[in-house]
Amino acid sequence: MDSPYPLTTGRLVLRPLRTDDIDVIVAYRNDPAVAALQDWNLPVTRERVERQVAAQSGWRDIVPGEPCQIGIELAGELIGDLYVGLDEHGGIAEIGFTLRTEHQGRGYAFEAASAVVADLIERHGCHRIVGQLSPENVRSARLLERLGLHVESLAPKSYWCRGAWDDNLTYAMSDAQWRARASTAE
Ligand SMILES: CC(C)(COP(=O)(O)OP(=O)(O)OC[C@H]1O[C@@H](n2cnc3c(N)ncnc32)[C@H](O)[C@@H]1OP(=O)(O)O)[C@@H](O)C(=O)NCCC(=O)NCCS
Repeated sequence: MDSPYPLTTGRLVLRPLRTDDIDVIVAYRNDPAVAALQDWNLPVTRERVERQVAAQSGWRDIVPGEPCQIGIELAGELIGDLYVGLDEHGGIAEIGFTLRTEHQGRGYAFEAASAVVADLIERHGCHRIVGQLSPENVRSARLLERLGLHVESLAPKSYWCRGAWDDNLTYAMSDAQWRARASTAE
């Protein structure tokens, strides 16, 4: 199966993370506005990001059972990343997204995630796309709804995050729901 990555969308390039991205990643992962409703431990050290980037140094494509981060590049600059966790059987993909604060509100996360979701369903044959978030994460919920996902469950105090139990909202969309939306958008 040929990889479409680096994947070009209208304004963006979705590509592997590289060592020259490390300082930018450290900066936005420590930005309180970006990190507030995410689950990573703070502060995010340079060493931790170096290890994450090194662990993905040979990344070329989404592979079942191998969660990955995909860089989002705008005009040659890294503006954030997408998380994709495709289960080992290749049917269910969890997606997540992080954009630098100054690049939010311009549709970049939607554009990047739309391309990745289309690839997951059309090329990988995924039948279910999932997003999990804190119910307080309104921007992320809006994005998931724009992508066509809907609320499936709210599990109170079910997610351990930075020393406390958080509520966890699960959004999902089937491949059939995605195809129905895609056909009405044409
Ligand atoms: C979640 C997150 C990625 C959403 O980013 P975003 O920029 O709001 O999302 P989108 O790409 O869908 O952009 C939508 C916004 O861009 C605006 N927009 C401008 N130009 C647009 C275009 N060409 N196309 C689509 N939307 C456009 C929309 O009106 C919308 O603005 P609004 O939210 O003020 O109504 C971002 O808030 C983020 O990184 N948060 C911190 C990390 C985080 O919590 N991640 C989620 C973990 S579950």
